[in-house]
Amino acid sequence: LTTVKQIWENREAYLDREIDLGGWVRSNRDSKSFGFLTISDGSFFEPLQVVYHDSLSNFQTIRKINVGAALIIRGTLVATPDAKQPFEIQASEISVEGDSAPDYPLQKKRHSPEFLRTILHLRPRTNLFQAAFRVRSVIAFAIHRFFQERNFVYVHTPLITSSDAEGAGEMFRVTTLDPNDIPRTPDGLVDYRADFFGKETNLTVSGQLDGEAFAQAFRDIYTFGPTFRAENSNTTRHAAEFWMIEPEISFADLNDAMALAEDMLKYIIRYVLEHAPEEMEFLNRFVDTGLLERLNHVLNSEFGRISYTEAVDILMQHNDSFDYKVSWGTDLQTEHERFLTEQVFKRPLFVTDYPKDIKAFYMKLNPDDKTVAAMDCLVPGIGEIIGGSQREDDYDKLLARIQELHMDEESYRFYLDLRKYGSSRHAGYGLGFERCVMYLTGIQNIRDVLPFPRTVGNCEL
Ligand code: 4AD
Ligand code: MG
Repeated sequence: LTTVKQIWENREAYLDREIDLGGWVRSNRDSKSFGFLTISDGSFFEPLQVVYHDSLSNFQTIRKINVGAALIIRGTLVATPDAKQPFEIQASEISVEGDSAPDYPLQKKRHSPEFLRTILHLRPRTNLFQAAFRVRSVIAFAIHRFFQERNFVYVHTPLITSSDAEGAGEMFRVTTLDPNDIPRTPDGLVDYRADFFGKETNLTVSGQLDGEAFAQAFRDIYTFGPTFRAENSNTTRHAAEFWMIEPEISFADLNDAMALAEDMLKYIIRYVLEHAPEEMEFLNRFVDTGLLERLNHVLNSEFGRISYTEAVDILMQHNDSFDYKVSWGTDLQTEHERFLTEQVFKRPLFVTDYPKDIKAFYMKLNPDDKTVAAMDCLVPGIGEIIGGSQREDDYDKLLARIQELHMDEESYRFYLDLRKYGSSRHAGYGLGFERCVMYLTGIQNIRDVLPFPRTVGNCEL
């Protein structure tokens, strides 16, 4: 079967030739002796027009074919210089793979993203989601290319784990048992420890700690996989299941991690503009009219850099306009992040050296003993897209921090070990894949860049 994309790219070669095309009906308009179908095969977000006549043996069937039906069309590609699309197919034979029922929910009109979220299994058949999910796929490939070109090793870190990589307690528990069969402790509490693994396990919130073990062997590694967070944040930027890319580099510090992150984001933008130009054009037209201009601007500018302390000084002058007031020591909220990147810097921005109390236990303590060598990358329209740090490589300091936070030392024994056996300076970061897709598509809600989103109160399909 020829694809619509092949036809768009090579129309001269296909003109006046016989073509077989498989796809789904977007619309069917008929009159007495002929009709028009628009057909989408997913290779290109814009459907292709097919004309059919009563010379077809099954003309009466095709006239009544419903929107959504799967067809195979044999026909000739002809030029239509005066029409909206410069070519169409004149069908000589149409076979029905599967008709669609008349109650097909996607009719030829614009549906709202809210409605489309109620039919997650059908929304990939719309122009918007064709563009969004194709760009998502291209971004994933670009990320692998970026790291593979630099000789990073791709590590598959486990999804089931017994440690809490972020130490934030936002984990989904893994259990094999029927809730009624879960053994109880003498106090009547659920005893998850009697589970399959003989200990408490959960879905991973980050592959970082395992990634660090590999970085101390391969030097430069990255992970790219699903992560899970039982964060009770019902926002347009939080999902319970999302994908994360976590590079980890050895013999490297925070500045090296920031340089890598900036190179990576620019590489991805360039790659997507080059490899999905029609989709990006479509998104620029229908989703976010400033998109292409903004992305091109990013390619031509350096990311901003500012310390947390400097950022707080700026933000405190604008506390009147914030719901959450800022002072030194408070964590930055999305409204503050967006203010910095949209109003002050007007481009992506790294904020560095956060107070240790609002950051994870593994971050390297700065000489001031108050802040850590952390960085968040903030982008316009979204806020935080990357979080990273240089890692504490000193055994005693790391152990002290784990104890100070009353974390279970045994669970982090392997992690401490890495500081015992040849601990190189190292740093890394996590890129939230969906936030990256939002940034590159202009789509405002994380539910619309995840094929089957899971958010608080929502796990459909
Ligand atoms: O800042 P976070 O929590 O950092 C880590 O997990 C580190 N282990 C990364 C590292 O240094 N290797 O998460 C990293 C990124 C965030 O910047 C954000 O883009 C994304 O992951 N993220 C989420 N995306 C969607 N839904 C959520 N609930 C997210 N939580 C974090
Ligand atoms: Mg973070």
